[in-house]
Formats: sequence, structure tokens, C-alpha cells
Amino acid sequence: MKNTVLTFAKAKEEGTKISMLTAYDYSTAKLMDEAGINSILVGDSLGNVVLGYDDTISVTMEDMIHHTRAVSRGAKKALVIADMPFMSYQASVYDAVVNAGRLMKEGRANAVKLEGGREVCPQIKAIVDAGIPVCAHIGLTPQSINSLGGNRVQGKTEAAAMKLLDDAMGVQEAGAFAVVIEAVPEKLAALITSRLEIPTIGIGAGNCCDGQVLVYQDMLGMFSDFTPKFVKKYANLGELMTAAFKQYDQEVKNKSFPSEEHTYKIDDGIIEKLY
Ligand code: KIV
Repeated sequence: MKNTVLTFAKAKEEGTKISMLTAYDYSTAKLMDEAGINSILVGDSLGNVVLGYDDTISVTMEDMIHHTRAVSRGAKKALVIADMPFMSYQASVYDAVVNAGRLMKEGRANAVKLEGGREVCPQIKAIVDAGIPVCAHIGLTPQSINSLGGNRVQGKTEAAAMKLLDDAMGVQEAGAFAVVIEAVPEKLAALITSRLEIPTIGIGAGNCCDGQVLVYQDMLGMFSDFTPKFVKKYANLGELMTAAFKQYDQEVKNKSFPSEEHTYKIDDGIIEKLY
């Protein structure tokens, strides 16, 4: 059975942790689904790990729809959440509803995610009123990297911590079904988690959140441009891939690939008639 927003609510109620990973294509989504991951986020981290940008600012609606469609085809059970890219919701409530609708209708997402606290609550409310579940995202919000002055831990001063708590309450009141908390001290994330009725999904926010999310290329050791402190590498696929690419390169050049095993046959008589 497909996971839904009700699965998230039940997990919070029962104290069961929620697993979430990012994915951007069909075959990765299928593997995650088969592994029992509860939710797949088609993150706009796509900009960094798939498209090779320095940040997420240039990611477009078309990029997100294209990759969300692929992930949705692979995720039979996991709840698919699509990120709303930069400037697809900030300028107006109208933009927010139309673009969230596109991610659901064209991308087949089950829910959307957008970054921000109180300032985006009118957008969250309007999208939810249109029948589209919204996951909020507070703390380090990479689309605001130019205002935040870099990828820094958030909520470390009393004022910043109070603002984060208030933002969390705000997005819940606006109707968000969950909230991602990124790069926030563990004790603050724990306090927010205990105050909220909706589940918190942490990334760099310690062990007390109701769930965890990681970018899959980070946790598989496939992306080395930068690795935040909170990333645990569950495998070093980057090294395995490079070794495999090197072996293939050598075998093509020394003609040991393809061998008989990987080659189609034809009756010699047919070939002789062609000469
Ligand atoms: O874009 C993304 O992958 C995200 C996660 C890091 C939460 O927003």
C-alpha cells in the first residue's frame, strides 16, 4: 500500500521513525522503494548532485517535473515529495498554487516541499487548500544561501532559536503535514519536535527528529564536491564506480571486452553468402 500523509501522522503518533532519501531517477527510486524507504524526496539538490551547479538557485520547474515523473514511476510504496524550485512560489500565492499543481499533475508527486517559515505560510495554506500536501523546510534553507551568507548551522542564538520555533509553529498552523529541519543544533530540533504535532524530518538536526533525510549521492559516497559534517557514508560507491570505469576503459582498449560471453552469434553459412 502507498504511504500517504496519514502514514507520516501515524508514525509521529506511534513514535516510529520515518526514513526519507532523495532520488532523481527511476532506477534509484525503485531500489529505495524495494529497500522499504518510507518517502523519496525529489530535492532541488538535483541542481548540485545531478546538474553540477554550485547551488540550487538555477533549478527550474521543468527540471523538477522531469525528474519527479521518473521517480514517481519507480516509487510504488514510498511517498514522493517534490521540491518547489527557487522562485516558483516566493513571488505570489498564485504562483505557488499553480506550480505545486504542476508538480502533482505533471510530475505525479504525492506532495510538495518548499523552504521558509512564517513568510511562506500564505503559500502553504493556499496549496494545502487546493488539496496538495505540503512539507515545509526550515533552518538552513539552501535557496536563501545568498541571504544566509553560506551553508551555516542555523538557530544558534536565542533570537534565531526563537524564530525557528515560531516558524515551525507557523508552518504547522498553515497546514504543513511535516517539516524538514536542516542544520540545526540537536537540542533545538528536539524541542521543536516535542512541541509540534506534525513530524519533523531532520538533516543535520540530530537524532531526536521524527525522521531523517539524506541526499543519496552523499550517503553512498558518490559526490565529493563538498560533504557536510552530518553526512554518514553508508557505502563508497564513488570508488567502486571509478574502479569499474577504469577497468572498462582498459578492457575496451586491450580488446578483452566484449568477449564471447557478451556477443551475439549468427550461422557462418549466412555470413559467407554475404561476402
Ligand atoms: O533538496 C534537497 O535535497 C533537500 C534536502 C537536503 C532536505 O531539500
